[in-house]
Amino acid sequence: MGTYAVTGSASGMGAAVVERLLADGHRVVGVDVKQADVTADLSTPAGRRAASAAVLELAGGVLDGAVLAAGLGPAPGRDRARLIAEVNVLGVVELLDAWRPALAKADRAKVVVFSSNSTTTVPMVPRRVVRALLEGDVERALGTLRLLGRAAPTFAYAASKVAVSHWVRRQAVTREWAGAGIRLNALAPGAIMTPLLEQQLATPAEARRIRAFPVPIGGFGDAGQLAAWVVFMLSDAADFLCGSVVFVDGGSDAWFRATDW
Ligand code: NAI
Repeated sequence: MGTYAVTGSASGMGAAVVERLLADGHRVVGVDVKQADVTADLSTPAGRRAASAAVLELAGGVLDGAVLAAGLGPAPGRDRARLIAEVNVLGVVELLDAWRPALAKADRAKVVVFSSNSTTTVPMVPRRVVRALLEGDVERALGTLRLLGRAAPTFAYAASKVAVSHWVRRQAVTREWAGAGIRLNALAPGAIMTPLLEQQLATPAEARRIRAFPVPIGGFGDAGQLAAWVVFMLSDAADFLCGSVVFVDGGSDAWFRATDW
């Protein structure tokens, strides 16, 4: 049985992952702003430092895996783009950088980062924003996002997820990750019925946009289904999975990108 760190453990897919891991007899150290083993605000540098240190201490310096599910959706709000950049990107990259040595100490550790199918279905995600986020320069990313007015949170969200997918693929194959025996992969869900989606559906215009979005299977996914994918990606069955971005989205990515290969 292993020890796993899970961010975003208090709600939605993170909570569903925790439930599955505990049911399978694993130990879980949950991180969230509320109701967690480690209560920390991942939108601040101090919160991220405190969270990474507390997890390492509680895990005894060895992690068999980590699931990075904490994140904010593209809701309206003045500070939303900043929160999205801080939590969705730096809340993944800084924590994983800090946890990498503990993951390397385990035997074939596995990491699953939550990306999104927004990476391939939102058109014209500004590359400058993605680049700034990958360089950890939130202010520069926000400077470009401000020019986009009310669309800023939507583009901030898509750019945050492009950035983490890119980061996963770039890091996964390196000496520090693959070379240290750590499998680093991303999961890209479509619309999954969680509090994050419920919040988006509460705005009528946003609800119309979400319901009009092409989903070949129809409807929404549920948190338990996605948790099952995460558990699979943490299992021995994923020993040969490295740097993959797995889309579980009812077919939207295939619909938009049928001719890409
Ligand atoms: P959720 O809102 O149910 O859970 C997200 C968790 O992140 C919450 O427990 C929240 O407290 C935590 N969190 C937010 N800000 C935080 C902060 N500053 N510090 C620490 N924790 C913080 O959302 P859901 O849907 O379970 O999302 C999980 C991941 O999946 C997110 O990264 C999200 O972007 C991604 N995703 C969700 C989709 C959906 O349709 N629900 C679709 C595609 C991706």
